[in-house]
Amino acid sequence: MLITLEGIDGSGKTTAWEALHDTYPDAVFTREPTTSWYGEAVRRSLADDDADPLADLFLFTADHADHLSRVVRPALDAGKLVVSDRYSDSRYAYQGAALSGVVDRPVEYVRGIHVPFTRPPDATIYLDVDPQVGAERAGTNDKFERAGYLAAVRENYERLIGYEPERFVRVDGERSPEAVVESVEAAVERLLDSAGDGVREN
Ligand code: TMP
Repeated sequence: MLITLEGIDGSGKTTAWEALHDTYPDAVFTREPTTSWYGEAVRRSLADDDADPLADLFLFTADHADHLSRVVRPALDAGKLVVSDRYSDSRYAYQGAALSGVVDRPVEYVRGIHVPFTRPPDATIYLDVDPQVGAERAGTNDKFERAGYLAAVRENYERLIGYEPERFVRVDGERSPEAVVESVEAAVERLLDSAGDGVREN
């Protein structure tokens, strides 16, 4: 089963992802951007205010393709639980916002590039925070972390939830880190229980 954690910067998803390591020691914990050289290229581009947004999209997407073939698919084939801190929805939401005015219907454009090859998540836990709160918590390390931009990213996440409400579990990320971690852990437990229900024979 593939579970992804999504949310704007400062939503607390990385803290929750780290907490899950102890609860599910046999799971594969991974993230995007990855630590591969593709991920390194992505981070260089993130730090460059003048990077072309389409070039960004394809760097992130190359990193995703490599992540899928090297980490995600082999782990799923081995029957593992995979928990990814960011995944394809980050592209739909973030590059969907960055490409506004560059291509028509940017969220749909970015989804369209992924559909032929990606492995969609079985479930996505979405940590919802106000963009101002997210920007303050995150500081302003890179171009994608500013409040105005994060507001557009959040709108895109809402749109994605509207497309597939059954895939998403929404968690209020504005509470204390402990409360957020607790909600995320409860959500993962429920998701695993309901996945188990599908294969149980008696
Ligand atoms: P992080 O804060 O989760 O490490 O992510 C780094 C930044 O990269 C964050 O601002 C979100 C952005 N990002 C994208 O714009 N598109 C993507 O596909 C991914 C995975 C991250």
